[in-house]
Amino acid sequence: MIDGPPKQLAERPLSPRQTGEDLKPEIALRPQRLDELIGQERVKENLSILIQAARVRGEALDHVLLYGPPGLGKTTLAHVIAHEMGFNIRVTSGPAIERAGDLAAILTNLRPGEILFVDEVHRLGRVVEEILYPAMEDFSLDIVIGKGPGARSIRLKLPRFTVIGATTRLALLTAPLRTRFGAVYRLDFYSLPAMEAIVRRGADLLKAPIDQDGVTEIACRARGTPRVALRLLRRVRDYALVRADGRIDAQLAAAALELLEVDPLGLDDIDRRVLSAIVVKFGGGPVGLETIAAAVSEEPDTIMDVYEPYLLQLGFLERTSRGRVATRLAFAHLGIPFEPSPEQSRLL
Ligand SMILES: Nc1ncnc2c1ncn2[C@@H]1O[C@H](COP(=O)(O)OP(=O)(O)OP(=O)(O)O)[C@@H](O)[C@H]1O
Ligand SMILES: [Mg+2]
Repeated sequence: MIDGPPKQLAERPLSPRQTGEDLKPEIALRPQRLDELIGQERVKENLSILIQAARVRGEALDHVLLYGPPGLGKTTLAHVIAHEMGFNIRVTSGPAIERAGDLAAILTNLRPGEILFVDEVHRLGRVVEEILYPAMEDFSLDIVIGKGPGARSIRLKLPRFTVIGATTRLALLTAPLRTRFGAVYRLDFYSLPAMEAIVRRGADLLKAPIDQDGVTEIACRARGTPRVALRLLRRVRDYALVRADGRIDAQLAAAALELLEVDPLGLDDIDRRVLSAIVVKFGGGPVGLETIAAAVSEEPDTIMDVYEPYLLQLGFLERTSRGRVATRLAFAHLGIPFEPSPEQSRLL
């Protein structure tokens, strides 16, 4: 089924949430070892058992699927796993593997134990997925040589390797693909103490002088997401340098974040537009995702992946069978009296 010249392994594509400017420091701040990773205690504990068992048996690691909202550490964890296993990691992504031949080229170049990290694994094409199933299960690759009546199929043996898949959308993964991962872990938003530790670690690495209240101020506004915490920290550090003497305390952090329109709960301009669209334009809902997206001029996928999870986590929104509904807390946050219609009361 090789259908065209194999392509080189793609570099990790930049997601729309990561600009070039922001990517380099992100890599520099990325933890390398499991014990450097802050938070996600349950995932870390399960992973360390998985890794140690594989090491004791001298086997390749079972396939691992990591899922959860953007910026919580899926890519970081994949690199940490490779580092802990002492194996090389090859990085690609669902949309980068366009043809069956691309995947065949990648798989036949893997060495025993190596890790293939497939980011956005829910975006693999069907044909590519069908090559991946037997490769993950039996470590073999069926390829068809030639065309028409003369075509014949040969089976290539592959070394034992590990796929680490990452996705923000578990529901979009086909069942056959999902069941081929032996270990599936969900990453959750981080607790406040974990966020504080992440800000503290980032500040140490960036050599930014910051006091404990400054750490807490940034951690509170980082929506439980390490990527956001580190981004806000860099912006606050800029502000401290330009508007003050470089030192960061709570007051300075709050002023810098106000200027960036990040409110004390970590909501930014788009979060607030989403909320006020539902509350003001649509009377609190229920309203469909597409309608909300159109009202705030964003992509429905972006709303669903990036904004909605945190609003749900805060308890500002509910997803119901009839659409999104704003809760009492959302009305309170916007300072608007909450008078639910009978339908809203039923749905909430
Ligand atoms: N547990 C953690 N401790 C410290 N830093 C972390 C942790 N998790 C993530 N980070 C930092 O947060 C940043 C974002 O993490 P990462 O790129 O792994 O997220 P992701 O889940 O892969 O996001 P996406 O879905 O957008 O690909 C990284 O630069 C990393 O340094
Ligand atoms: Mg990632």
